[in-house]
Amino acid sequence: MITQEQFRSNFDVAGKRLFFNHAAYSPISRPVVNAINEFFEHRQMGNPLAWNIAVDHMEGLRSNYGKLVGAPAERIAHMANTVSGVNVLANGLDWKAGDHILLYVDEFPSNVMPFLNLKDRGVEVEFISAGDGRVTPELFEAALKPQTRLISISSVQYLTGFRADLKNLSELCHSRNIIFSVDAIQSVGVVPTDVIASGVDFMAVGGHKWMMSPLGTGFLYVTEELQSRLKLVHRGYMGHVNPIDFGNFDQELSPNAQRFELGAFNASGMVGAEKATELLLECGIDSIFRHVRKLIGQFEWGLDELPFKTMYQFEENEQSSICMFSHNDASRNEAIFQSLSASGVNISLRGGGLRLAPHYYNTSDEVDQILALLKGSS
Ligand SMILES: Cc1ncc(COP(=O)(O)O)c(C=O)c1O
Repeated sequence: MITQEQFRSNFDVAGKRLFFNHAAYSPISRPVVNAINEFFEHRQMGNPLAWNIAVDHMEGLRSNYGKLVGAPAERIAHMANTVSGVNVLANGLDWKAGDHILLYVDEFPSNVMPFLNLKDRGVEVEFISAGDGRVTPELFEAALKPQTRLISISSVQYLTGFRADLKNLSELCHSRNIIFSVDAIQSVGVVPTDVIASGVDFMAVGGHKWMMSPLGTGFLYVTEELQSRLKLVHRGYMGHVNPIDFGNFDQELSPNAQRFELGAFNASGMVGAEKATELLLECGIDSIFRHVRKLIGQFEWGLDELPFKTMYQFEENEQSSICMFSHNDASRNEAIFQSLSASGVNISLRGGGLRLAPHYYNTSDEVDQILALLKGSS
């Protein structure tokens, strides 16, 4: 068990910048940097066991990913980013001309482009809108067609912070024989996640945001049933039962999700990601989420005293670790963003609004400092 204070002490950025931009990317902690350096020492010194060491870390990371989403490690495959995972799904299914996919109109392109690429196979992609930002099961239900085969949604929307009702969406999908896929980069590592309880068929997640991991790390989760329907579009050697039996071309694919892995892998990134996810698991994702929600609550109260407002009013079970806010005169947001950046505050300007995204090492005092800077800039 790691306390919030202990976790914060691992971050050199703490006390130097007001870093509240984890929905874009995270700073990495000192233990993560140390673990990567230690691995590079093995490479630097030509340690003949470096490959085995890397494989051990890869398997340790696979197990951590499983714990973060409530899945057995066998259902996890390493991927370089979210979009690589989505491509495994989009390209692996046996589409027929006329098949229909439903997406939300403001998805991040990683959850759109792989599906648009199916146009030359006759697959129709349709986008639903949500006036108030609530991407609900009802909106999808109203847009279903007999030909709908897949719905893919972000667990948390990057432009609004809306958290989707995965359980009800999966029930809707399964009642119509529709595959339910989730881009969960904006929630895994900060929002408690249980893929089995929520009935997700497929999930793709990148590591560099809430999992506080190096770029080029991430994973996919896939159920055994859906995996059996996915053709391997790319086939390497790491996805076989004995990857180092190089001369054996007749060997079987791994029965696990590992079959989607290809060749030599991002070992240094995975070493860092293993340490980063281990730290998050030791903090406990429930504690992390409670903490960031408390910080966002404090921030929203503070905004009430200023000429600023939150842009979306979501119910408690729709809230996430992202808070979108705006000056009452939205045309001033860009100048305010620049002024905060110059004062050492990292947040994002997204869709004309300002996006605050705290993680577990951020503090209430830091929130007060940002509010004071906002007061000064307004
Ligand atoms: C919802 C969402 N999906 C995916 C990504 C990133 O995708 P990838 O991991 O493919 O780079 C982002 C942000 O960069 C995002 O906000």
